Amino acid sequence: MTPLALRIPKAELHLHIEGSLEPELMFELAGRNKVPLRFASAEAVRAAYRFSDLQSFLDIYYEGARVLLTERDFKDLALAYCRRAAAEGVRHAEVFFDPQTHTERGVAFRTVLEGLSAGFAEAGMSYRLIACFLRHLSADEAMRVLEEALPHRDRIVAVGLDSSERGHPPSKFKAVFDRARAEGFLTVAHAGEEGPPSYIWEALDLLKVRRVDHGVRCLEDPALVERLARERVPLTVCPLSNVKLRVFERLEDHNLRDLLAAGLLVTVNSDDPAYFGGYAGENFAACERALGLGREDLGRLARGSFEASFLPEADKLRFLAEVDAAMTA
Ligand code: ADE
Ligand code: ZN
Repeated sequence: MTPLALRIPKAELHLHIEGSLEPELMFELAGRNKVPLRFASAEAVRAAYRFSDLQSFLDIYYEGARVLLTERDFKDLALAYCRRAAAEGVRHAEVFFDPQTHTERGVAFRTVLEGLSAGFAEAGMSYRLIACFLRHLSADEAMRVLEEALPHRDRIVAVGLDSSERGHPPSKFKAVFDRARAEGFLTVAHAGEEGPPSYIWEALDLLKVRRVDHGVRCLEDPALVERLARERVPLTVCPLSNVKLRVFERLEDHNLRDLLAAGLLVTVNSDDPAYFGGYAGENFAACERALGLGREDLGRLARGSFEASFLPEADKLRFLAEVDAAMTA
């Protein structure tokens, strides 16, 4: 029987759809769209995936995204993600996309949105979309992205903040997030991946985030941990990503167990699975092996993922019942 880590129903809450672009699909789209690649083969692309930090990854990730041009490309990308994720127990996905990565190459916001929506719908995956601002770019540019998103408000549940964390604190985007919330979007932000705990405080106090993406550096600040636990602010932790980007040297060194022991609402996610070597279920399984998680831990992570989602209460309850059924099977 499939191991519990892979089969337990789970929600994926931290997934950059551009980061699910497997090298084989990258080559297929490059051929279809006549976009030159500097690699000779999918194997050569994979061999280049050795990163020293977040920035060294982002450079190659933005390069890979250049092959995505048409609605069909974004649909194929979403379909491929859904196939892999569903096989590892993902029943619901709240998916980041980076509009600026595409609009600055002349790809329309609507093309990205239509393509992704078509892919998730065809795959029959329960999903929500989250538009992220690239924090290495200016707040004015982020405001323009938000304005482009407004006509599509019914199809985008939240806005987020990603890309290079160090030197780009959440405070830089306070006005953009104020406007986003006033327009009805929920908010999330990457904080405390490489950046200090003060960035997590800013994400909470200034951007009023409903979840913190990564957030693993919160343990450096006991008052912050107490606040996150008391308010049940979810952390969308990405263990394999953290090792690939050298936040922790080895998975055995990851602080996931300490986050759980501190009473935090922790979820386990894949971030950029094509680059970091595993989809959501693989992240569960790798933590089970490296950190000695037991059945109860897996159940807590799976339940927490639905609790932390932006689904309506009735849908959460339905998925939670599926988790319980898998736990007793
Ligand atoms: N964009 C894609 N993956 C990211 C990550 N882990 N952190 C920040 N920005 C990202
Ligand atoms: Zn991320």
